[in-house]
Amino acid sequence: MNNNGRAQFSSKFAVVVAAAGSAVGLGNIWRFPYELGSNGGFAFLLVYLLFVFLLGMPVMLSELVIGRRSQTNASGAFRVLKPGSHWSLVGLLGVITAFVILSFYFVVAGWSLEYVFQALVNRFEGQTPNDLSQAFTDFSTDAFRPLLWTVVFVFLTSAVVLAGVQKGIENISKILMPVLFLIILILCVRSLTLPNANEGLKFLFKPDFTKINSSVVLSALGQAFFSLSVGMSCLITYGSYVSKKNNLVHTAFEVTALDTLVSVLAAVAIFPAVFSLEINPAQGPELVFITLPNVFTQIPGGYVWAVLFFLLLAVAALTSTISLLEVITAYVTEEFKLKRRTVVLSSIVILVFCATLSSLSLGVWSDLQLFGMSLFDFFDYLSSKILLPVGGLFISVFLGWFYPRKETLDELSNGGKLSVPLFNIYFFLLRYIVPVAIALIFINELGLTK
Ligand code: TRP
Repeated sequence: MNNNGRAQFSSKFAVVVAAAGSAVGLGNIWRFPYELGSNGGFAFLLVYLLFVFLLGMPVMLSELVIGRRSQTNASGAFRVLKPGSHWSLVGLLGVITAFVILSFYFVVAGWSLEYVFQALVNRFEGQTPNDLSQAFTDFSTDAFRPLLWTVVFVFLTSAVVLAGVQKGIENISKILMPVLFLIILILCVRSLTLPNANEGLKFLFKPDFTKINSSVVLSALGQAFFSLSVGMSCLITYGSYVSKKNNLVHTAFEVTALDTLVSVLAAVAIFPAVFSLEINPAQGPELVFITLPNVFTQIPGGYVWAVLFFLLLAVAALTSTISLLEVITAYVTEEFKLKRRTVVLSSIVILVFCATLSSLSLGVWSDLQLFGMSLFDFFDYLSSKILLPVGGLFISVFLGWFYPRKETLDELSNGGKLSVPLFNIYFFLLRYIVPVAIALIFINELGLTK
């Protein structure tokens, strides 16, 4: 607790693991490798890295500033900093975005539990690539089984959020994040010591710039924001739990670096193995659920690797769903003066409903389409390619243009106690580069320049 009785993370380590827990998730281990695989490998990685450091990190720092300065939830924060304005709508948009993301995220998180189970009962052994592919299709299009796991995941997440900021979020992140790191390192070593691992590394680290076009650029932007958990006020919420003594610049840098490291490690754990077994790297969302079980059936000790990998996926997903549910919970509890328990329990109902829609949209309700996409794909597209960049744009414009520069500097320097050597660069990025880059990428992708 801080002086006002508001919940607070207990240490610098707690802040970093909680924020990194939010950032590191399915985005790194499930989404990043297939985006990379289908968007040309290294060239995509370069554009991605550029966006992470030039656009994503400044937005992350801004969210932390807004959160810690205001000491309140995503939407209330803007009202505290700019009373009487409509900026709080940006926070509200963030809360809505949290629902949209969770609608498909819980489904994939549920899949990860099913695959932990399948790995544990040794279901992959002796299966041909065709069997595995069929098994995934049968499972993901089934009406009942994925839902069951999704509901289990919703309950796990709710239990942690119910326990509160320190006892729930902080404590679970302190345990799970180091575990996650260890598992991914072990998997990398395994993958790199397979025959022909070099081919995969070549794919990862040899650029093919002919693959870059406007939609690849938008994908890289969406992936950068999604992976860093920025653009929807998630880190405003977490920032509001950060002590006034914490160095926000260091925190933002450490979280960005960890998140990027895990994405790259996930790719290193996956592609050498994929190439070693001559599997097509350009698969979509099913990459880790079909390709990797194939890999596990064919390498020594595959049973253990399979269990470890899917456990990694589930653990990473959990610390992320927690952060998304916390955005909703903090907003509703503070804005409507409701009990945490009431809010979490009612959110469960809505979230299970939305997740059911997106899960069924892959199977029995596949006819139900929006803009030519299944609901599942639509929620994914809408959040990462539209809502997060738009949110990031508003957040950067708010701090860059509508909030006094000296107040931002005051917050970053902890009231003048810390030096902030790169402040001018940060502020320049925020004011000009972030909004202009996001706007240009949109205009370009929408084809408005033609
Ligand atoms: N960053 C997480 C991932 O990579 C997902 C996530 C959690 C998220 N909180 C978020 C994405 C807030 C956008 C905004 O899986």
